[in-house]
Amino acid sequence: MAADPREPSLESRTFDTVLVLDFGAQYAQVIARRVRECHVYSEIVPGETPAAELLARRPVGIILSGGPKSVYAGHAPRPDPAIFDAGVPILGICYGQQLIAQALGGEVANTGIAEFGRTALDVTEPGALLAGQPVSQTVWMSHNDAVVRPPEGARVLAATRHSPAAAFEDPVRGVYGVQYHPEVSHTPRGLDVFEAFLTATGARRTWTSHSVIEAAVADIRAQVGDGAVLCGLSGGVDSAVAAALVAEAVGEQLTCVFVDHGLLRHDEATQVEEAFGASSSTRLVTVDAAARFLDRLAGVTDPEEKRKRIGTEFIRVFEEAARAHAGDAAFLVQGTLYPDVIESGHGSAATIKSHHNVGGLPEDMEFELVEPLRWLFKDEVRRVGEELGLPREIVWRQPFPGPGLAVRVIGEVSAERLALLRAADRILLDELRRAGLDRATAGPDAGDTDFVWQSFAVLPTIRSVGVQGDERTYGHPVILRAVTSEDAMTADFARIDYDVLERIAGRIINEVPGINRVAYDVTSKPPGTIEWE
Ligand code: XMP
Repeated sequence: MAADPREPSLESRTFDTVLVLDFGAQYAQVIARRVRECHVYSEIVPGETPAAELLARRPVGIILSGGPKSVYAGHAPRPDPAIFDAGVPILGICYGQQLIAQALGGEVANTGIAEFGRTALDVTEPGALLAGQPVSQTVWMSHNDAVVRPPEGARVLAATRHSPAAAFEDPVRGVYGVQYHPEVSHTPRGLDVFEAFLTATGARRTWTSHSVIEAAVADIRAQVGDGAVLCGLSGGVDSAVAAALVAEAVGEQLTCVFVDHGLLRHDEATQVEEAFGASSSTRLVTVDAAARFLDRLAGVTDPEEKRKRIGTEFIRVFEEAARAHAGDAAFLVQGTLYPDVIESGHGSAATIKSHHNVGGLPEDMEFELVEPLRWLFKDEVRRVGEELGLPREIVWRQPFPGPGLAVRVIGEVSAERLALLRAADRILLDELRRAGLDRATAGPDAGDTDFVWQSFAVLPTIRSVGVQGDERTYGHPVILRAVTSEDAMTADFARIDYDVLERIAGRIINEVPGINRVAYDVTSKPPGTIEWE
């Protein structure tokens, strides 16, 4: 689902905007990210949004995404045809390209031959869209139908074996199409296609961390006026950057609350206090609520029930802290990101309030939410954090779920089981850092490739037999999980060196009494999820 286009974001009023019309594409988010990488703001909206609504947003360009349907299918989603006469440049990708051809006098056929995966592309005439690109290159394809005749007046730019019009353009009319997927990394020159299209739109390249900060600060000031604002810090990058933005905007009115729910990793509470405590100008209140959360979790084994209870308790603690320390703050900062907004299916502030970032927020919340990151992707949040001068350790910290270790202790959560998990988790992270695999502690020039996205230990409910020092043990196994990912939507298990794994396993068994076996999870997402619960 895509964001509600009727509510223009501050961003789309401030920045030249490219709207991505989503026709059910697997890659709509990636398209928007690629456009933003070219420093142009981009938002995803439903594919069939009426043209009047789209044009009211005054987009400088429109991209029609791919989609799973054939343009000949009964209920094939289509854009409002009026967009083709609006004078706004349009780029169609895969299904989007076929929609353009079909709407403007070209022909789409089911050739009977699908093309999936890496495919050889021959550029016959580069035109504006493929200018400067190699004549022969590899692109990523995923289609059944193909454009066999481009729209009237359009020139064919490239072909593959089974796609005679794999790219076309009509710069006069302002339509461009590619049958392949320029947004995925398997199309090495894909970003150049976006660059060329954006050049054709004349979009101003002003979407930078610096201007994002300026826009967010203006937005926060307009929303909260002189009201008191409360921000829950989790230690994660999202809440930290959200807090830093609010501090930049209305520092005097901000109180940060760090709820130590007792479900944190080793030393996490100390690190948050160091980053936001005495040395910083932000007012920070730490609430030690560990006993309270453990109490609420007693006897609970169902993961969703854990999430709900933790989420509810979080807000209750915030509300109390607001009353006690933040002058009855009416505003609560939340680190909701753009993918959360897209996934919740709506862009309107009213709906977003029920989205649970820390676990099911209660319906009767007393706060109005301030969500300065709701138009940003995670990588953009990190760049904003760097621009704001937050420590690398915070900016590049692994994502950590709101319910914390409670969803990594399978079954019932107790202080003892948390302590076991925390000790194993600490060793895992320590050794991954030593091996240079954790970005937060790797040097600033370490590159992007081999870092883990998340790593953690999971404590299952089963027991395992072992032998240690000639004695039979009947202890706890732990499962190690380490994944690589770009955005947590998909993930691959991290190919950690056996020697590193051996060192981690050896240390856990020797240093954590009660644990006698270590397993490594080699499931990717899908079919698994990153967390176990
Ligand atoms: P899954 O397990 O669904 O996780 O593959 C995807 C990403 O989301 C994180 N995660 C959560 N984050 N509250 C959060 O704030 C939650 O309840 C929650 N559950 C999973 C997970 O750590 C991963 O980064």
